[in-house]
Amino acid sequence: MGKVMWKPGTFLYPIPAVLVTSGTMEKSNIMTVAWTGIINTNPPIVYISVRPERYSYHLIKENKEFVINLTTEKLAFATDWCGVKSGAKLDKFKEMKLTKEKANFVKCPMIKESPVSVECRVIEEKNYGSHTQFVAEVLAINADKQYINEKGGFDITKCNLISYSNGGYFTQGKKIGRFGFSVKKKK
Ligand SMILES: Cc1cc2nc3c(=O)[nH]c(=O)nc-3n(C[C@H](O)[C@H](O)[C@H](O)COP(=O)(O)O)c2cc1C
Repeated sequence: MGKVMWKPGTFLYPIPAVLVTSGTMEKSNIMTVAWTGIINTNPPIVYISVRPERYSYHLIKENKEFVINLTTEKLAFATDWCGVKSGAKLDKFKEMKLTKEKANFVKCPMIKESPVSVECRVIEEKNYGSHTQFVAEVLAINADKQYINEKGGFDITKCNLISYSNGGYFTQGKKIGRFGFSVKKKK
């Protein structure tokens, strides 16, 4: 059959669709972001790419802080809704009945209903055309205790994280291997 060639684009899936919170406890916003990822492990550095027309863009640019809140099947509706409505004129926390939780290092709130909230401080920003990439150092990871097992590990299978692929939201399928399984010696 072979492959069909398309013009250059951004077909790179699956990726996360996260809820990014910005602003302060009093004046805060939530925005859905799929253009996000890890840049460096040590020190931990991540990025989000945001269009300047977003309300969140101005809050992040002003405060140089944001929180990445991971999304779950339960949060799928809010994930889509916060990605099609602007916080310029409405309170997304109130509309989606989400709870603000005080972060440890940044002024913006975390989303209590999210299993993991990553506190970020912007260290660099660069406009590439349509989007500005905010590169940020990770100040803290806040994980919901209900997913921490007796050994102190985070049980990622319990919280039903979702991903985003070519316009669709997906739950995770079954685990098919573990890091290094391809070279592990059979007992
Ligand atoms: C699944 C999904 C992913 C999105 N990813 C991004 C993104 O990476 N960058 C961006 O600028 N907008 C993205 N958007 C659009 C914004 O979330 C949307 O314009 C939102 O209304 C902006 O909110 P705000 O104006 O309150 O900041 C995405 C929307 C959806 C539904």
